[in-house]
Amino acid sequence: MARKRVTSGMRPTGSIHLGNLLGALDNWVRLQEEYDCFYFIVDWHALTTPGGGDAVGFENVGDLSANVHGMAIDWISAGLDPDKCSMFVQSHVPEVAELHLLFSMITPLGWLERNPTYKDMVQGYKIENPSLGLLGYPTLQSADILVYKGEFVPVGKDQEAHVNMTRDLAQRFNSLYGRDVFPITQALLTDVPKVPGRDGVDRKMSKSSGNYIATSLSADETTKKIRTMFTDPVKIRKDDPGHPDGCVVYAFHGIYNRAEQSVIRSECEKGERGCVDCKMQLSEKMNAALEPIRDRRVELEADPERVREILGAGADSARSIAMDTMREIREVMNIPTRENV
Ligand code: TRP
Repeated sequence: MARKRVTSGMRPTGSIHLGNLLGALDNWVRLQEEYDCFYFIVDWHALTTPGGGDAVGFENVGDLSANVHGMAIDWISAGLDPDKCSMFVQSHVPEVAELHLLFSMITPLGWLERNPTYKDMVQGYKIENPSLGLLGYPTLQSADILVYKGEFVPVGKDQEAHVNMTRDLAQRFNSLYGRDVFPITQALLTDVPKVPGRDGVDRKMSKSSGNYIATSLSADETTKKIRTMFTDPVKIRKDDPGHPDGCVVYAFHGIYNRAEQSVIRSECEKGERGCVDCKMQLSEKMNAALEPIRDRRVELEADPERVREILGAGADSARSIAMDTMREIREVMNIPTRENV
């Protein structure tokens, strides 16, 4: 029986951080064992928002190639295996752009204007003249998914609205043309650990808030980032009783040092554990977990051609599927062919 298809993408932000790793990539790595997976670096989406923050954007597209290459290294070193999944660059499959164009004919403007991410973007970046590209972001994302007839899309809660729109669009297309061309896509909201920023347990780790730990850092650099993590502000001395629930270091022990977390809690609360030692212990565990990723990174950085080959092979296999889909779509939509005009 054919394996079900999983599709997902990430914007090329330069380097990924622990939030991306724990919140998405680790899950992608697991999924490649059971599904037919298509993972793409969405360089076109990066052009929809101005530079800075989580976005790359049209103001510094010069970095885009480097960022895409860097993200491919991040992905492979995190465990994505080119023998088990297709990983590639969104724009290397131009059929996506064609499907986006055709979808734009059946996407009601109201859906796009109501999209919460659009409103957040416009307000967050104070964009005075939003572009058609930004407004159409979810339509492009739908093309990303549906050109491969993606059935499942592993994403975070923040992307749920986009995946729901993909499903609505697929349904709309199928009913307008009276053919079950597209599957009804579902978001895969897998249980992933909540990854706090270094600045507080209620803050999400993100590139734009600068509170992240990049997976590309060395062990020493990672330790430095741990040293400045937010802990309990009222615990000044080692023997002051602490409050682990508001402490970022404690939260990370829950991810990288689960076995000892309850001991750590009670020692901290009783004033038997200093924050400095607690951080050093975390640093050991976290660095041990990141070690294999760093080793693979070193190999890939020494062999940029290998990275390009992987992306090229991924694009080839993705493209042949995308071409099949587009042939079908053109036929269903009655787009004139060279033969029948
Ligand atoms: N919008 C997604 C994000 O910002 C990235 C993305 C683009 C995506 N195309 C996709 C995710 C297709 C899943 C499927 O994270």
